[in-house]
Amino acid sequence: MHVRPIDPATATVTIKFHLEDPDGLTGKGQADVTVVAHRGMNILEAAMASGIDIEHACGGVCACSTCHVYLERGAGDVSEASEAEEDRVEEAPGLQRNSRLGCQCVLNGDGPIEVRVPAWNRNAVKEGH
Ligand code: FES
Repeated sequence: MHVRPIDPATATVTIKFHLEDPDGLTGKGQADVTVVAHRGMNILEAAMASGIDIEHACGGVCACSTCHVYLERGAGDVSEASEAEEDRVEEAPGLQRNSRLGCQCVLNGDGPIEVRVPAWNRNAVKEGH
């Protein structure tokens, strides 16, 4: 997946990530990571560009559910879920009302946005291979 780099001089969207498996996602133990990203990026892209390695088995085209995250704050600052996303996210383990696919959730306001990244996404993928 092509990830656009973040330019800190022009990035405006604040996202606080709560990582349930910080070691697995970043190689570090820090569970709360705040990043600043660009409008037009999606949550998966913003995470990847910031060193948070969220799974994305299909490469960000809404064909898996491994980029499943919980949007805990900032629903008004991201795109609404399409029908395709809603259908797909229903396959994710641990589905909640605030479940989103990171690759389909586009930043269109400056936040602050808060996103929880569940730990078992990675585990589900690892066990499947
Ligand atoms: S990466 Fe596959 S649906 Fe998001």
